[in-house]
Amino acid sequence: MKNIYSNIIKLNNNLLKRIILDLKNNELVGIPTETVYGLAGKAYSGKAVKKIFEMKKRPQKNPLIVHYYKLQDAEKDVFFNKNFFKLYKKLCPGPITFILRKRNNSKIHNKVTANLNTVGIRFPKNQIIRKILKKIDFPLAMPSANKAGKVSPTEPNHVYFEFGKKIKIIDGGKTKIGLESTVVDLTKKTRILRPGIISKEKIQRILKKKIFSPKKFEKILSPGNLKKHYSPGIPLVLNAKRAASKSAFIVIGKIDIKSKDIFNLSKASNLEEAAKNLYKTLINIKKKKYKKIYVMKIPKKGIGIAINDRLKRAATK
Ligand code: TXA
Ligand code: MG
Repeated sequence: MKNIYSNIIKLNNNLLKRIILDLKNNELVGIPTETVYGLAGKAYSGKAVKKIFEMKKRPQKNPLIVHYYKLQDAEKDVFFNKNFFKLYKKLCPGPITFILRKRNNSKIHNKVTANLNTVGIRFPKNQIIRKILKKIDFPLAMPSANKAGKVSPTEPNHVYFEFGKKIKIIDGGKTKIGLESTVVDLTKKTRILRPGIISKEKIQRILKKKIFSPKKFEKILSPGNLKKHYSPGIPLVLNAKRAASKSAFIVIGKIDIKSKDIFNLSKASNLEEAAKNLYKTLINIKKKKYKKIYVMKIPKKGIGIAINDRLKRAATK
């Protein structure tokens, strides 16, 4: 990828040292993961965490995910349980976040968890974030590197569009998955709080039990589930058969019509490819100054469930 911006940088050994120093000194860094790019800061530092909330303009009540290199590192901060071990063994490192009870003597700053007594923890798989996590002796609080309510970045220049030169951005190219991690609450009744590439069915198979994924929450357990989210900032019409003229039309599968207004998520109707292209497409359409987006029906199976979840929120006025 061509780096036109001087603060988008490829990680080498010298830079790795510099990044580690920056993080130790409570600076924030844009870092790729296998899902989306994150805005990383020291999870034990009130100063770093405050910067994350400010830079993202994130509501204080929306907690951040804490990222670790390995199991032992997280043990100081949360209580593990049987379900966690089963899922960790099969799925980590990988695109899944576990909500667990926080230990009283954990050093995770209260702002990270929005004063909840639970923490979302994740062990990302991407080699760049793992290289960094391996070298530091604190975990990283890392929300997606976008302003609150907006679309998550899947390329380094998307992070640049959000934060400009305010932070260093590590270039890891396009992210592999393109949608945020599955969030699963393991504190009480096991339940999915945010769908992702790791499906409910997969989790059920590993845990050998049915799990719950409520459509509506009695209380907001995962504030990222606030209805309006992932917004491209222009109206979006879902399950459309066609688009009005001069509007953008997001489609999937083979389409006969040729038009510059058609944006195909996957000509092969491959849902994983569609997930990978979704945010990039929304960002691209916004940049082209379209006033309205129509989206064809996307099958609600596999990662299609997560795609539909994000689209529904993006369409909420
Ligand atoms: O794939 C990902 O998870 C990316 C990459 C960068 O790791 N991160 C990410 O973070 O998506 P963020 O902040 O954009 O989304 C975190 C989600 C939110 O929906 C938040 O409410 C939920 O996780 N969350 C975090 N801690 C929680 C907690 N203690 N209880 C319930 N939900 C929690
Ligand atoms: Mg986010």
